Amino acid sequence: MTFYTNLAAQYYDAFFECTDEQELNFWAQHIASSASPALELGVGTGRILLPLVERGLTVEGVDCSATMLAQCRAKAAARNLHPHLYEQYIEQLQLEKQYGFIFSPLGTWQQIADRAAAQQALTRCCERLLPGGTLMLYTFLPWYNAPEFGQWHVLPEVTTADGIVLHVEKKRNS
Ligand SMILES: C[S@@+](CC[C@H](N)C(=O)[O-])C[C@H]1O[C@@H](n2cnc3c(N)ncnc32)[C@H](O)[C@@H]1O
Repeated sequence: MTFYTNLAAQYYDAFFECTDEQELNFWAQHIASSASPALELGVGTGRILLPLVERGLTVEGVDCSATMLAQCRAKAAARNLHPHLYEQYIEQLQLEKQYGFIFSPLGTWQQIADRAAAQQALTRCCERLLPGGTLMLYTFLPWYNAPEFGQWHVLPEVTTADGIVLHVEKKRNS
């Protein structure tokens, strides 16, 4: 079960476009200092993975949403990139390789809301780690809305190809 089908997948990039070099640098540094390859859990449309692959890093991706993966593949092809992408649930990972760095940006990990499923997902991920490898899971904090975490900024409206106008607000520190 995934929320990332149809409209949610279609408009994902309009809401979560990657303009944040800091975020990319953060993951790039960890990947570069780990054994290769790396694996992104919940790769989605490739918001993080594709720019990292463009930097010459070897990153593979897994996601349970065929729609998100289709977008990722299309964007990769347009950039002449050929990352390995797998349609699988994290809780049921069945990959042959092991990875030096397995990571989950944004809110992917918190979408595994069932405790037993989360434990199963952790077990599957640890099985896929190379000896000495790192599993890094990003999670949102419930007090994210506190003022010290920045102000809401209204971004320029985005008009999609089919004429839908998207109004996006995003949290920034300045
Ligand atoms: C918030 S998006 C993050 C996408 C990408 N990592 C990013 O930073 O833009 C969450 C992604 O995780 C995927 N996902 C959620 N739960 C999953 C699960 N249990 N197994 C595999 N993928 C999952 C969704 O399909 C979606 O593409």
